[in-house]
Amino acid sequence: MHPSNNLNKILIIDFGSQFTQLIARRIRELGVYSEILNHKKIKYFKQFDSNVKGIILSGGPLNVYETSKIKFNSKILKLKIPVLGVCFGHQIISKTFGGVVKKSKKREFGLTLIKKIKKSKLTNNFFNNRGTSKVWMSHSDQVFKLPKKFKAIAYSENSKFCIIENKVDNFFGIQFHPEVTHTTRGNIIFKNFVYSICKIKKNWSSKKQKERLIKEIRQKIGRSKVLCALSGGVDSSVVSKLLYNAVGKNLVCIFVNTGLLRKNEETEVINTFKKKHNMNLIYVNAKNLFINKLKNVSDPETKRKIIGNLFVKVFEKYAKKIKKVEFLAQGTLYPDLIESKSVTGSQTSKIKSHHNVGGLPKKMKLKLIEPLKYLFKDEVRKLGLELNLSNKIISRHPFPGPGLAIRIPGSITEKKINILKEADYYFIEALKNQKLYHKIWQAYAALLPVKTVGVMGDNRTYEYICLLRAITSEDGMTADFYNFKKKFVQSISNKIINNVRGINRVVYDITSKPPSTIELE
Ligand code: XMP
Repeated sequence: MHPSNNLNKILIIDFGSQFTQLIARRIRELGVYSEILNHKKIKYFKQFDSNVKGIILSGGPLNVYETSKIKFNSKILKLKIPVLGVCFGHQIISKTFGGVVKKSKKREFGLTLIKKIKKSKLTNNFFNNRGTSKVWMSHSDQVFKLPKKFKAIAYSENSKFCIIENKVDNFFGIQFHPEVTHTTRGNIIFKNFVYSICKIKKNWSSKKQKERLIKEIRQKIGRSKVLCALSGGVDSSVVSKLLYNAVGKNLVCIFVNTGLLRKNEETEVINTFKKKHNMNLIYVNAKNLFINKLKNVSDPETKRKIIGNLFVKVFEKYAKKIKKVEFLAQGTLYPDLIESKSVTGSQTSKIKSHHNVGGLPKKMKLKLIEPLKYLFKDEVRKLGLELNLSNKIISRHPFPGPGLAIRIPGSITEKKINILKEADYYFIEALKNQKLYHKIWQAYAALLPVKTVGVMGDNRTYEYICLLRAITSEDGMTADFYNFKKKFVQSISNKIINNVRGINRVVYDITSKPPSTIELE
């Protein structure tokens, strides 16, 4: 459901920077709707969207003179709409209006102090009283000569034109990245641009989202029935609750117990959605089916495919029993739609085939409804709270569709699953008790298929290794391992070994992503 039919917005033109989505989120955090558009798509604009009140040109890995790779229709700069260029965006504005952009002698990377030259609406409250501000830079090209009508607003030791403006046409360029938190006052730049320069009024909040989405869902679905696969994860929980608020008992949720869930997961989902929220929920226990099909399968991709296909089969079987269903709901989010990968023409190679509980059968001929399609994950969480879902559900760590199967490398047995469920439970409980859970983006235990020798009391043991993984991340695309204190790792290791039969050694994964991935398979 496209929210922008009647909403003023900031359009972010994407040149392939890894931070483009962050710019969009920063604008929305300010309470204003923003949308991302691949720079190559501008040429398809027949009539420019009159809701666009400001344009931000993102950063990107290209060089402004690689014209064969950049398909940027610079007519967009003639629309009399304020424009802010960030990094590459700053350079492309400069080049378009006759400035000179070249490779710098010195690459500027990391925290940099910039100094004010003159006042600008864009930098109101941005500099301290010594006229400086700390910003985060990442560039090797820079603007060497200003285009006509432009003035320099700030400089750094290595770049003369860090902030520039054309006051008459409301064009601004900044060499640094205000969207990353290292730029201490980066938000002030966006605030000034959105409110003082583009003069947009606040139009984006989770309360407004809830009202808008419920209204739109009712219009779209009417009195028909809608089906939703509920996994208990954040996205499917929010979609289900949103639909329930919109159409009540005309929503039917199907929850499939694959036998690969965490400890107590099925009870928690049933208690929350069926008992507490009184929703129509069909519980399918397909444990044996999944475990049998996975017997002796150890290749990670084969495991993923088996689970994905089986899930669809089970779902279809039960969906067919429900009469008069017209719609199928999915928890697609905005990052799934954004085409930033193709911006620079490079294809990212497939690393793992993702199984999403949302990725459901096309041949069922149901109409799709994807209410969260224009929201970022943090917005989905806020919407969930607005819908009265508990913080426990909303702030849960992500859990992959194939579940514990990809946390047991090699072949899977019910025994191994049960050992892992227990170890994972103790780990997550300890994180919660020590108030570490919310500092960590994702944490889990895995069971390595290797047995090693240990000693307990006077006895020799020969049991599995439990691997613990805890990472910090913005969006799961890159990640760093969490740095626990020795006391914590020591106590969790003891707790697992003392309480979980089948494990006699605990190790902690200290790799980041890349080069590793978050999950083991
Ligand atoms: P990786 O292991 O690729 O994981 O670094 C990145 C994030 O994606 C989650 N993940 C999945 N989520 N279906 C999902 O819904 C999947 O098949 C899947 N595989 C990985 C993973 O837990 C992490 O948050």
